[in-house]
Amino acid sequence: MIETFALDWLQQREPADHAARPEGLVPVLRDALPEPGSTAIRVTDLGSGSGSNLRYLAPRLPRPQHWRLVDHDRGLLAQTRAPCGGVEIERKRCDLAAEPARALTGDEALVTGAALLDLVSRDWLQRLLSVCFTQGAAVLFALSYDGRIRWSRPHPLDADVEAWVNRHQRSDKGFGPALGPIAAATCAEQLEALGYQVQIRPSDWWIGAEQAVLGAALIEGWVGAASEVCPQRAGDLRAWGDARARALASGTVELTVGHQDVLGWR
Ligand SMILES: C[S@@+](CC[C@H](N)C(=O)[O-])C[C@H]1O[C@@H](n2cnc3c(N)ncnc32)[C@H](O)[C@@H]1O
Repeated sequence: MIETFALDWLQQREPADHAARPEGLVPVLRDALPEPGSTAIRVTDLGSGSGSNLRYLAPRLPRPQHWRLVDHDRGLLAQTRAPCGGVEIERKRCDLAAEPARALTGDEALVTGAALLDLVSRDWLQRLLSVCFTQGAAVLFALSYDGRIRWSRPHPLDADVEAWVNRHQRSDKGFGPALGPIAAATCAEQLEALGYQVQIRPSDWWIGAEQAVLGAALIEGWVGAASEVCPQRAGDLRAWGDARARALASGTVELTVGHQDVLGWR
């Protein structure tokens, strides 16, 4: 089983993703990378999708850069373009699930990924990070969902929805039992145990009326996930979703979705 992600969804979330990312991690990452020179800094982006992580990071890092974009989805990879001068891209179609290191070339200065870690298992992550450590690569995993779905005004079903969504998050997404909400914390622990220096920063989404389209898509996904976990409450969940989407669109409620970014360097 492989998780697929629609291009529409990735395009909807990109502005919220970029707004949420902690700028404070960028100078720390820059210092961890080799001095810019004639040789390109080599970056591998795991689960690159249509290139959102590339579009955020490449303009913020020294150039020249060579990005290897890895995903199993040929259609998403075909959407990727170099976002600025001095950046070369290479697309690699690959199922990452079986062996994480398969996607690496061994000479990366940075191994990165965005909105990926919550899909993977503890064992998969451990194997990936061990290889990164051995080859001396810095590691940056952005936008891992951390289990917080917080509304500015409460609804009686909010806590149940959060719990059911979070239980669904732990189900297998093709990499073994998914880390879901504990992905970033687990990554930070594993990095520290290997001997990396680590920073972990919040990258929460804030969603108000102006982001109501993204909010409606999220709510729809949560209603589906929670209904799988608790089918006997599917009717209540549908009513909750309709009420929450209306309230978000009219500006009577705002939503925070917890995410974390983790940077490891040697
Ligand atoms: C939530 S999306 C994030 C995409 C992109 N990083 C972004 O921030 O927009 C997760 C990505 O992981 C990819 N993915 C999921 N399972 C995979 C697997 N087993 N092998 C390779 N890619 C996978 C999906 O195709 C998708 O592009």
